[in-house]
Order: sequence, then C-alpha cells, then structure tokens
Amino acid sequence: MSVAGFTSTGSKHPQVLFGTVSADTPVRMIASHGCTVVGSDGRSYLDFLMALGAVALGYGHDEVNRSAIEAVQQGGIGSLAPAQEELLAGDIAEMMPGLEQVRFLKTGAEAAAAAVRLARVITGRDRVLGCGYHGWLDWCSASGGVPEATRSLYREIPFNDAEQSVELIRAAGGSLACVVLEPVIDAAPQVEWLAAVREACDHVGALLVFDEIKTAFRVSPGGAVQRWGVQPDLTILGKALANGFPLAAVGGKAELMGRVRDTWISSTMATEWVALAAARATLRVMREQQVTTHLHLMGGMLLAGLRLLADLHPVLIERASGIEELCNLHYRNEDVARRVALACAERGLLFKRNAYNFVSLAHSAAEVSMALDILAAVLREQERAMPPGRNTG
Ligand SMILES: Cc1ncc(COP(=O)(O)O)c(C=O)c1O
Repeated sequence: MSVAGFTSTGSKHPQVLFGTVSADTPVRMIASHGCTVVGSDGRSYLDFLMALGAVALGYGHDEVNRSAIEAVQQGGIGSLAPAQEELLAGDIAEMMPGLEQVRFLKTGAEAAAAAVRLARVITGRDRVLGCGYHGWLDWCSASGGVPEATRSLYREIPFNDAEQSVELIRAAGGSLACVVLEPVIDAAPQVEWLAAVREACDHVGALLVFDEIKTAFRVSPGGAVQRWGVQPDLTILGKALANGFPLAAVGGKAELMGRVRDTWISSTMATEWVALAAARATLRVMREQQVTTHLHLMGGMLLAGLRLLADLHPVLIERASGIEELCNLHYRNEDVARRVALACAERGLLFKRNAYNFVSLAHSAAEVSMALDILAAVLREQERAMPPGRNTG
C-alpha cells in the first residue's frame, strides 16, 4: 500500500465508511455516473454519500462535463487572472446577493481559513468560536501537531443553544474575531439561535461567518441565508459549488472582502479555470432546473422513510436525524451501524452509517424507494439475527 493511511480523503477510509470490512466490501472505486459508483471489481452501487456531499447534480453531469472539457481544451490555466473567475463571481452574487465579492480557493478548509484570516485582519483580534466541522487546518483543529497556542484561540459553541452561545460570545468579548458556524448540524437551525448569535456578534464587534460548505446549493438557491433569513458577514462555499470539481470560495460585502489587501491569501491553482467553468455550468443548471426543489422533494421522501424505519426498528435505531437535504439514521450502537452499512453495501447500496446521506438531481423517487427497500430488508434481517431477549423494543 503506497498511499499513507490508505487514502488522502480520511472520510473515504473503509474503516470510517463501514467500521469494518469483509472480502466483498467495496474499498476502492474506478468510476461514477449519475447516482452510481463503480467499485474496482466492476460492481455498481447506488450511492447516497455523493462524494461526501461534493456532488448535487449527479456524477458526470453532461452540461458540467461539456464546460469542463471546453476549459481543458482552452488550456485550463495560464499566467494572467482568468476571465472565468470574474464571470463566476458575478454568477454567485446573482444567486447569493450578500456575496458582493468572493475569493476562490481549492478546498473548503482553505476557504474557512481565509474567512478567519479576514475576520482577524478586520477586527484586529485573535479568538474564534466555531460550531461544526470546518476542515483540517490548524486554526480549528485539536488533532496532533497543532500547537497549544493555536488551540487556545479556538472554542466551540453549542448548536441551537442560544443562551450558552451568547454567554460564550460575550465572555470572549473584545478578543473575539468571529464566530464560524455550520447552519445545519443534525437538525435545522432555530432561527432564534441564529438571530441571538448574530446579535451577540454585533454587540461585541465580532464577525459572523456561515460555513455553508454542505448547505449551499442544497437547502435553497441562496443557501442557509435565504432559507432561515439571518445574514452573516462572510460565507464559505465549497463541495457542490462545482459539482465535484475542486473549488471553494469565501465571500461577503465588498467592504469586508476588500480587506484581502491587508493580508496574503493566495494559491497558484485557485485560478485554473476547469473548476471555474464547471462551477459556472453547475450554477446554470441550479438556476434553470430548480435543483434545490428536487433535492427537497427527494430528500423529504428519504427522510420520511428513515423516520418510518426508525419507528419500526427501535431496537436497532435511536432516531432519524437531519433535514431533507442531508439526513441520517442514528443507530443504537456502533456494532449495529457497522453491520447495517456492510449489509447495505453487499446489496449494492452505499448508505452512510454515521454522517449525512445526500440526494442529488440524479436521484429520482425510484432510487430513493430502492434504497429504502434495501434498508428495510437489511434492518429486518439484522433484527432477526439479534440474540433472543434483545429484540424487543
Ligand atoms: C461544513 C464544512 N466545512 C469545511 C469542510 C472542509 O472542506 P474540505 O474537505 O473541502 O477541505 C467540510 C468538509 O467536509 C465541511 O463539511
């Protein structure tokens, strides 16, 4: 094995996906189309992981591919700032009016780090409060190798808990540069929570940053801001922005974004234009085909099915959680989660056991119902296989 730790995307490690593997478990893949991935053994799997949410139109979407191929044929990269960059910034501003200006980067983690850097420059302060996952970089990470001095600048606020969040923001007070939050964590945000955080940030003079890497282009055309009506100062985009081509962005009001002049945020590859062209095509499809309505409908069907399965199998499942566009089953324990994920894969379904499942434009009611049928069969089988005395609710 030559890739250290098996794969460069930690969340695609078989141990993370399935908990354990058998000889038949798909661990590497060779192709993807629509809502299907093809394992290296040539077998096709109906997919609800959608590259960890990076794809909302379906894999290999024709219009996105055509734009990307054209960009490749036009060289893909060069020595001047590409025209595509300015055009895409305009497209984003049209869909998300709060994003008057943006800067592009390649990964969500980079875009989040750029937002924090900007907030620190704008406020002249160091401390950051966060809620959710914002990538692997030092500013928000407690993993090995992060200096204690860096860790000490970051703290979490609790999702949907207005009282505690406001208390932590006020306690950080004059040293707080920003609050970075994911608008959806296992549930929809309470508008009162978002509004309380907004007000507390204004009170102490800190910026509010929405990390919309999972929610943008899914929960509504204008993202969480449009769906829940609270406006952040800066917004971070990634994942579905270019339907799987590597692209992320940070954006906000021109007056705030203009402060990039006071720091150094730059990446050689940020202006290759294959991903920029893919993103322009993605946003075009988003606008023309009411993609977020489709995701809401298909996701609604999935979530309703998951809730029904949770009611039918309380011994195995604690609850169904999330919102229509990103949802999940919480199993009673890790062993059940592992067995269900493996049994689903054996039947040709990739269904996340401990994080969100995503629908895409390529998922129709037929695929959602196929997934629910497989899950129902697997859960019945798992419940029957439980030792006597444990299969009562
Ligand atoms: C909300 C959120 N922020 C940031 C990131 C980091 O993005 P990336 O993995 O592209 O660096 C992720 C990735 O899962 C995410 O879900």
